[in-house]
Amino acid sequence: MAEQLSIDKSRSDEEIYKSLIQVIEGIVSADEPVISVLSNITAVLKEAFNKISWAGFYLRKDNSLYLGPFQGKIACTFIPLGKGVCGTAASKKETIIVDDVNAFEGHIVCDSEAKSEIVAPIVSNGDVYGVIDLDSTSLSAFNSTDREYLEAIARIIAQKIDLEKLKNIII
Ligand code: SME
Repeated sequence: MAEQLSIDKSRSDEEIYKSLIQVIEGIVSADEPVISVLSNITAVLKEAFNKISWAGFYLRKDNSLYLGPFQGKIACTFIPLGKGVCGTAASKKETIIVDDVNAFEGHIVCDSEAKSEIVAPIVSNGDVYGVIDLDSTSLSAFNSTDREYLEAIARIIAQKIDLEKLKNIII
C-alpha cells in the first residue's frame, strides 16, 4: 500500500503533527514487515517538516542501539545505552530535547551541521525497544509540541507493531 502524503507546510507544527498521526496510524500495521513500517515513518516525518534534517530509528539489542531505518545523511551505526542523546534517552526511558547539541556533554556527532535534536524512546511494559531521533540544522528547533507528538508516534509503534519482530531486526 502506498500512502500519498500532502502536507500544507504553512500550517502550525501542531496541525501538521495531527494529520501525520492519522497517516502513521494507517502505516503502522502488525501485518506489514516492521522494517517497511519504520522506513515509511521516517519518510513521513522528514517530508512533513523543513526543520528536520535527519529522521530515524536506533533499535536496541542488549546494551546497544543500532542504526535502523532513516532519512538523511549517513549516520553512526552503533550507540551504547547511556551514551549520546539517543543512548541517554533510551537508558532513562524519557524524551530528551537538546536545543544546542554542542552544549550536551557526550553528544555523538553524525552530521556536523546538526544543531538541535529530539529523541523519544519506544517503551513497552518497561522495556526499551529503540528510539526515534530527529535532528535539525537550526538551534532550538524542537519543543513540547514535538515531544507530545513524537511520544504519541512511539506509543503507536509500541502498541501496534509486533515487538518481537522489532527486537529481531538487529541480528
Ligand atoms: N546525535 C545522536 C547520534 C545520532 S545522530 O544524531 C543521527 C546522539 O548523540 O545520540
